[in-house]
Parts: sequence; structure tokens; C-alpha cells
Amino acid sequence: MVIQAPSEPTSNNDADQDTPREQVTVFEAIGGEPRVRELVDRFYDLMDLDEDLRELREAHGPSLDNARDRLFWFLCGWMGGPDHYISRFGHPRLRARHLPFSIGSAERDQWVICMGRAMRDIGVDEELGERLLRSFFQTADWMRNRQD
Ligand code: HEM
Repeated sequence: MVIQAPSEPTSNNDADQDTPREQVTVFEAIGGEPRVRELVDRFYDLMDLDEDLRELREAHGPSLDNARDRLFWFLCGWMGGPDHYISRFGHPRLRARHLPFSIGSAERDQWVICMGRAMRDIGVDEELGERLLRSFFQTADWMRNRQD
């Protein structure tokens, strides 16, 4: 996934107006590993804190430590950065890996709400956050393994 670099002109030279603008990955746009780590930490902190994310929290085991590391590794690659997850575990097979957990629309929606709050809390750019949230929704929806 790539996004356009911010549109500030890089030069005052008119000849440069026709050259394609630089493309940056979402990983770069969000601020690299420290920011992805911050996002994941806030995401799981909120999952523990927010009462209205109860079903999502209950779908997880008592400790979220493993999930924190794995989501961080996964998201780095998913956003176009280093493939930490694949180098450790191979193909993500995300849907298969989520089959042991009961995931319906409540869990899906809470996952996306939780991620939206985490992005807001750490100050992800609003437009980037909205784009990411749409992609997250697609992925979370694909993870549903219950009818309701
Ligand atoms: C739809 C709602 C979701 C629920 C209820 C859910 C729940 C879970 C649970 C319970 C685990 C296991 C955590 C552990 O090992 O302690 C897990 C792992 C994981 N989840 Fe989700 N998840 C959801 C959506 C997503 C989405 C949208 C993504 C990616 C964008 C994602 C990425 C991951 C990853 C990478 C792991 C680690 C998998 C592994 O290596 O075993 N999850 N999730």
C-alpha cells in the first residue's frame, strides 16, 4: 500500500511541476517503527480500559503481551515496512490464525473502534487514519467466523 507524499512543492523550479510526486509507504507516513509500536500499545491499553470494548477483550486470553508483539510485527509489514512477522512466522494466514477465537460483528466493530481511538489518541494524521480505518475494517470483516 502506498500513499502520496505530502503535496508541498519540493522546488520552486517550474520545470519540476511535471515530475511525478514522491511516493511514500504508509509505514513511512505514520512515522516508522516507534509510531507503529505506540499505536499497538495504545490499541491494547484501550482494549483493557474501555468498558464498551468488553466483547473484544473477552475474545482474548488473560495476557495481551503476545498479541502486542505480533500485531506490531504484522503491521510493520502490512503498512509497507519491514516484514518482521513473515520472517518469524511465515505467511500470516490471518483468517486461519483467528479461527480459534469467536469473532462476529460485535468483535469486528469493536476492533475497528479500538483502532480508531488508538490512532486518534496518538495523533495519527486524520486523512491517513480514515484511509487506514477503511482497510482495517475490510481485514476485520474477513476475520469474522460467526454469523451474528
Ligand atoms: C475482528 C476482530 C479481531 C479479533 C476479535 C481478534 C482477536 C485476536 C486474538 C484473540 C488473537 C490472539 C492473541 C494472542 O495470541 O494472545 C489475535 C492475534 C492476532 N491478530 Fe487479531 N483479532 C481481530 C482482528 C484483527 C485484525 C483486523 C488484524 C490485522 C489488521 C489482526 C491481527 C492479528 C495478528 C497479526 C495476530 C497474531 C497472530 C499469530 O501470530 O498467531 N487481528 N487476534
